[in-house]
Amino acid sequence: MISCLAMRVGAPEGAQALGWTISSGYPLNTMPISGTARPSTIPDPRDAGIWPRIHYIPCMSNSFGEYLRITTWGESHGPGIGVVIDGLPAGISVSVETIARDLARRRPGGALASARKEPDAPQIQSGLHDGKTLGSPLAIWIESVDARPADYDQLSELYRPGHADFTTEARYGFRDARGGGRASARETAARVAAGSVARAMLSSEYGIEIVGWVDAIGTARAEVNPALVQSEEVEASVVRCPVTEASEAFIEKIEAARDGGDSLGGWVGVVARGVPAGWGDPVFGKVKALLGSAFLSIPAAMAMEMGDGIAATSRTGSQNNDQMVPDGKGGMRQETNRSGGLQGGITSGAPLWARVGFKPTSTIATSQQTIDSSGKAVAFEGSGRHDPCVVPRAVPIVEAMMALVLADRMLAWRATPPASE
Ligand SMILES: Cc1cc2nc3c(=O)[nH]c(=O)nc-3n(C[C@H](O)[C@H](O)[C@H](O)COP(=O)(O)O)c2cc1C
Repeated sequence: MISCLAMRVGAPEGAQALGWTISSGYPLNTMPISGTARPSTIPDPRDAGIWPRIHYIPCMSNSFGEYLRITTWGESHGPGIGVVIDGLPAGISVSVETIARDLARRRPGGALASARKEPDAPQIQSGLHDGKTLGSPLAIWIESVDARPADYDQLSELYRPGHADFTTEARYGFRDARGGGRASARETAARVAAGSVARAMLSSEYGIEIVGWVDAIGTARAEVNPALVQSEEVEASVVRCPVTEASEAFIEKIEAARDGGDSLGGWVGVVARGVPAGWGDPVFGKVKALLGSAFLSIPAAMAMEMGDGIAATSRTGSQNNDQMVPDGKGGMRQETNRSGGLQGGITSGAPLWARVGFKPTSTIATSQQTIDSSGKAVAFEGSGRHDPCVVPRAVPIVEAMMALVLADRMLAWRATPPASE
């Protein structure tokens, strides 16, 4: 935001004449409707030589969180990626082995995933001493050793349908075509590393456990109970589905899509058990709003349901409300958990559970229509290393984003605790 303001302050008079809107920070008429990313009929301030004088700094959004703030960096086929975690209290135990184990769950490889082979060995570069956080920024670096930028040479001049190539260029006028740059799922390794640290803090401070699983692939769905699902059952399945019959059906579907040069989408379920009542805030601080932002920032995520989600919209109030009863300890217990552990966006003490929907992988081995950077129609057929279905690999990423939101709200709760009598 500060960098946007800097651009506005520095914009010269000529910028307005060219359609460059100083007040909003965005030249509205550079919104491309069709054709190339920046249509030639629309003036580009850089063509008039004023670009450097505007001091334009693109506001790429690389940070997430309020009290626990992460900033990720690195491109898909660059030398590596990393994360800085700021706001961690001093004295939290962090184990590099645990981070490595969580990263291994997200890693590509295997018959049903991209063939890229990355060891994803995390290196802590700051913020840790004798296995405990210092309270200073915790920086984690993950080297990329199997980057193959040449695989993407054909992509520098065309836009893949369904991927972020066209829109990134429309936004920045330039892009790193090597594997999608910042839009690539490689960036999510940095989130998983940060999520691992957040998870360790939630576990040691409150005994919170977070479990994700594959809930649906294409039109097939598994029946999983969020209150009971265990990560060991999930990890026993190559597609991360704890229900054996559903797991087998999912594998068959993904193999058929891959062999046919196509891809599939689906849903990830996630639950956090042991979250105390009272985390989150009304209005813009609702945990469901923060989770929505967290989940929908994952590449290929298209939808999010809290608790029973869309199913609740076709019920009556009497069918949908979670009945409250005394827990026998002076508190409250819900008889059901259709709301997913939240009321008014604040945690109720019941398990927090959600589903995140993912689209089918856009890069497929079937010929599709697109345009090149000169606006010419071309055919594109994906080659190289791609996931036929991103959903199983998305499980640890969804868990990580849940952990980051909860750790952030845990610190917010501590910073502004309830009034004491
Ligand atoms: C774990 C994971 C793996 C992915 N692998 C691929 C892939 O191999 N090929 C591809 O085209 N997209 C892949 N994607 C999705 C793209 O990164 C994503 O569709 C793209 O950045 C455009 O963003 P959007 O779908 O959110 O609009 C993957 C996503 C995730 C979460």
